[in-house]
Amino acid sequence: MKPRRFTFFMLAAASLLNAQTAPTSSQSHSNGTSAKQEEAKALLACGQMVADQLALLKIPDTRAPRFQGKVSEATALCRGGAQALQFRATPWVDWTNYWGTGDMSSLPTGFISKKLPAQRGVAGALEDLELQRIELIKFNLFDNAGTFSEYVQGRNGVGGPAIKVWPEMRLQPSDPNYNAVGGDGDQVCKGDLIRWRTVTGICNDILNPAMGSSGMLFGRNVEFEAAFPDLGLDQLARNRHGNRLSLLEPDPQVISRRLFTRIQSSPDKCQAGYGLPNDSKDANCDYQKAPFFNVLAAYWIQFMTHDWFSHLDEGHNAPEYMKVGCETKLVNNVEVPLTPEDIAKLGCRPDDQMDKSYVAQDTPPGTFESGGHTYLARAPKTMANTNTAWWDASQLYGFDDTSRQRVKRDPADNAKLLLVPAAGQPGPGYLPVFGPNDPINPEWAGQEATGFPDNWTVGLSFLHNLFAREHNSFVAEFRRVAAQKPNADCGLRDPAQPKKVIRYKDVTPDELFEIARLVVAAEIAKIHTTEWTPQLLYNEPLYLGMNGNWNGLLGENGGLLSKALSDIVVRNFGKSKDVAKATTWYSVFASGPGIFGLGSKVSGYDITNPKYTNGGVNHFGSPFNFPEEFVSVYRLHPLVPDLLEYRDLKGDPNKIVKRIPVVETFQGKATPFMETMGIANWGLTLGRQRLGLLTLHNSPMFLQNLKLSRLDSPTQQIDVVALDIIRDRERGVPRFNEFRRQYGLRQLTSFDDFMDPGVAPGSPEQLEQQETVKTLRELYGQHVCDASKVITDAQVNEDGSPINDCLGHPDGTLIDNIEDVDTAVGYLAEYRRPHGFAISETQFVVFILNASRRLFSDRFFTSCFRPEFYTTLGIDWVNHNGPGPVQMEKGAPNGHVQPVSPLKRILIRNIPELASELDPVINAFDPWARDRGQYYSLAWKPRPGAESDDSFANQ
Ligand code: HEM
Repeated sequence: MKPRRFTFFMLAAASLLNAQTAPTSSQSHSNGTSAKQEEAKALLACGQMVADQLALLKIPDTRAPRFQGKVSEATALCRGGAQALQFRATPWVDWTNYWGTGDMSSLPTGFISKKLPAQRGVAGALEDLELQRIELIKFNLFDNAGTFSEYVQGRNGVGGPAIKVWPEMRLQPSDPNYNAVGGDGDQVCKGDLIRWRTVTGICNDILNPAMGSSGMLFGRNVEFEAAFPDLGLDQLARNRHGNRLSLLEPDPQVISRRLFTRIQSSPDKCQAGYGLPNDSKDANCDYQKAPFFNVLAAYWIQFMTHDWFSHLDEGHNAPEYMKVGCETKLVNNVEVPLTPEDIAKLGCRPDDQMDKSYVAQDTPPGTFESGGHTYLARAPKTMANTNTAWWDASQLYGFDDTSRQRVKRDPADNAKLLLVPAAGQPGPGYLPVFGPNDPINPEWAGQEATGFPDNWTVGLSFLHNLFAREHNSFVAEFRRVAAQKPNADCGLRDPAQPKKVIRYKDVTPDELFEIARLVVAAEIAKIHTTEWTPQLLYNEPLYLGMNGNWNGLLGENGGLLSKALSDIVVRNFGKSKDVAKATTWYSVFASGPGIFGLGSKVSGYDITNPKYTNGGVNHFGSPFNFPEEFVSVYRLHPLVPDLLEYRDLKGDPNKIVKRIPVVETFQGKATPFMETMGIANWGLTLGRQRLGLLTLHNSPMFLQNLKLSRLDSPTQQIDVVALDIIRDRERGVPRFNEFRRQYGLRQLTSFDDFMDPGVAPGSPEQLEQQETVKTLRELYGQHVCDASKVITDAQVNEDGSPINDCLGHPDGTLIDNIEDVDTAVGYLAEYRRPHGFAISETQFVVFILNASRRLFSDRFFTSCFRPEFYTTLGIDWVNHNGPGPVQMEKGAPNGHVQPVSPLKRILIRNIPELASELDPVINAFDPWARDRGQYYSLAWKPRPGAESDDSFANQ
């Protein structure tokens, strides 16, 4: 134990206990203790916590005794007082009950100082999250590409997690750059291949040219044996699911209709998401709204996923078709056919069909032995990511030769993207529409031309147009500076002539195009990390954590200390062959200087030497790509409303003038909406409307009934919600409970565990949750458990015994089939969530691991975030959120003095009509008319000037 800290807590506690003053009524706590007594108890607990923590900081050697987000009683008490002890028995993580992690009500009352306990709570939450991240990096990386056996066994005396170069990440002879990187010798990217983000994503990692490029395999975050439980290849999986699973059982369309459908107060005004004629504002489709997150944020994440991954090839799947349910239901734990009455009542469609998922490999994966254990070398089936896995804005710029042809450059200035004027609309214009010779899927005809055009609606049109404008804004500023000081050093360097200064006037249009792409991609990553995510997870620990990922926990101006830490991380740990240093401590120390820019400030930097250019990345022994599980938790379809509340900036922004069905803006229909109504009005529309909560009974009706003309099926229609479930099953995502165990979260033992123990007994919320539990039982059923069957090796019971089929219930009793719950169902059914979390904790844990890795692995966000690649203007533009010096926001929102947010700046720069609307907005993803109130308030209240906004009248 650290004696100084311990003594401090003891003395402080003693002085409080001695100061026995009678509690005033405001100081009385529900359990009868005074605030001072509680404070003293908490302080005493802090002494014990220090001792507990020392034990905790030892990261376990095996996955079974993981942290699970659960702390000791003393730690919870120290960080959150008595209320933090209330929910320790639930499956959900503890940190959300600490002081300061919610809104004002999470701050202690009656304490001598609110500040110190709140700091303990928030710092404690950050510590728990970091511990989770370390364990996730240690236990949840499973590469499908053939590197896994070395990850487990090591190579030539180097431990697996410290391996940095893999033969599986070499370019194949068929690649046009095969010879350029070294052919069949050592492959090292050089020359023009390392200067920018390449179209196919090769050479981001200079020593692993193929890593993250288009067509590489998705990885996994779960043991390969735990994937594809439906195939029954693994004894534990067979014990877990008792032969109850198949692609269409339980029936996905039945699940969709019974658990996901939005309940409508007046179905005739919604018309299954198709609204009323002429986009009448009298239409109404009810949905559950998140008060602190707007529709722009929904489209933002779709825009992001189109950058990161895709299973589809040019908007379609494999040639074979399959049925997609609406066939059976469970009666007395047996699947029986639906009757015509059942089908009519559910409103599902037995004739729907869909193209099957592509599978890259389905041959037996092979095994290897290590430490007396037999491992699968990869998952039983693998799938390819047809996109680049890098955060490289490939949705805008393309990800292979075909998609690059869809990206139109401006013939008048080849550094710019082509924008064309739209009749009657001000500004620099709009993306051109696809022409007859463009390489597109016929469904995309009439849409704006861009790299990734699938599932286009007016929301994606908005973001693609906005960032095309931003690309051109950067080019214009570069040209302005170049005209002013043509002979000045722009910072760029060419590895072929590294010493040669490149002046502004020397930069070619092609070079400038690629620099602008680097800048736009970095801005997007910055918006996502410091603006979108802190609004998605709206509380103080996450605000600090996400800004920490970007700027470092030491703050944006961490200065010398930040640089020193960065050097320590990269020098000591980045190159380390010691596994613990290379992985475990790297993540912790990187929190100091921040991941962004790691390795970019080392002394003696040389762009011809991969030791420097590649020196800031860390893949933790497992080549970077997204895991299937990541795709699963990003199926965020409930975010989308059915109807868009259209507003007109020139009229009264507080008035909703039309209700436009999202589906009426699908594919080519988006473009006329964008061009005739104008990007500014769409900004206002998407910015003011609340998005849908990620919860059950909240999926868009139009997506349950989506018409896809490309389908060769009787209905040419698909229930995307049911498809979400089917795709996860096709791709072997473990079911919810094992999914949680694999990620180091605590398991559930019955459907009742989904209930939030914090809701008032008899409240409408509790009744709704009870109804969900009942429906889950009807859909997934129950079975008589058998305690002799071990069901997992991912975790053990608290007493160290294996977890068995009875999950702690008496042997031979009837228990819920909680193991069978589909992951997408489970994560939406989590009613208890951290304050301000638009996603559930299960989705979040997937994010902790993969969002960090997406930065850690990318040299353009770490060691190559330098003027040699971005130019000096480019670096400043990303750091300052645009041209000129950084601009500061008014006041200190939520207690933080902060710059004007990057997206707010981009919106005002490229759509100046929105300037006054955005003036009071702090975070562009918070509904623009909402008053943010105090300290992470979620209240739905109008800000001054928006009192008459229609959306406050129709809560
Ligand atoms: C707004 C209208 C949207 C439409 C019309 C739409 C449509 C679709 C369709 C048809 C699929 C199925 C593709 C297949 O497996 O065959 C799909 C998949 C998916 N959607 Fe959406 N979607 C929309 C919004 C969103 C949003 C807001 C998100 C948020 C992240 C999202 C995330 C995903 C993901 C992650 C997949 C799986 C992609 C893959 O398998 O690689 N979608 N969507």
